[in-house]
Amino acid sequence: ENIWGIILAAGSGSRLAGAAGGVAKQYIEHRGAPLFWLSARTFSRVAGVRGVVFVFPDADMAAMDKRVNQLFRSENLGLDWAVCAGGARRQDSVALGLAALPSGCDGVLVHDAARPFVSASTIALLIDALRRGERAAIPAIAVADTVKRVVPDRSGGESVAQTLDRAALRAVQTPQAFETKLLREAHAQAGAQGWEATDDASMAERMTPPVTVAVIPGDPGNVKITTPEDLKRLEEARTTVPC
Ligand code: CTP
Ligand code: MG
Repeated sequence: ENIWGIILAAGSGSRLAGAAGGVAKQYIEHRGAPLFWLSARTFSRVAGVRGVVFVFPDADMAAMDKRVNQLFRSENLGLDWAVCAGGARRQDSVALGLAALPSGCDGVLVHDAARPFVSASTIALLIDALRRGERAAIPAIAVADTVKRVVPDRSGGESVAQTLDRAALRAVQTPQAFETKLLREAHAQAGAQGWEATDDASMAERMTPPVTVAVIPGDPGNVKITTPEDLKRLEEARTTVPC
């Protein structure tokens, strides 16, 4: 068993729109380290994780190679690691991260650096799923709001087309776990067919032959830092969680 994490930190954080002082969200400092490092810490606490690949914007590569070196020197997580440059879309960054995995890596956990509060137990549940033979597994939580599908209306606004059955809906998170070979094949098919996807599991779902994606219980605390509002969660965590 040789399982690696891919920590995606190659976005620009455009929806934060400057609320983080012009720094991309993966670099926001929290508890003495940039956000992308908090996930690496948590991965390192789970038995079975061999290493992590950090994916950064191409323009930041030289600086981040140095920074990650420094971080590992001051805090030895006991993980192997690599850094690589990402691409324009999240899915491009994942494909580049997959190419940077060492040979022999048979399981991979793709994770958003923008979800710094992922728990060790979520990672452990995903690894358990791979161990019992699932080829793809994702964490998901029940949806609290009623969700409706909308269509544009004549006035330039929108109206409801359909109310979805909330009991059957889930909000999905990262990390998403895959047999490495399978996720490589999914990305190859996505590239060949021009699929756009906001997560990796949806590529596996569209593959021929289709792959069953197992769902494990997610964690409501594993939020994604996306909007200026979400930055408050970092402030709250700073004041309520002992370091
Ligand atoms: N990501 C990436 N490469 C990209 C785009 C996104 O590695 N080309 C990463 C982000 O760094 C983030 C995760 O994917 O950790 C989830 O993406 P998202 O929340 O959309 O982050 P951003 O793309 O940075 O933010 P925005 O969409 O607001 O610009
Ligand atoms: Mg984005």
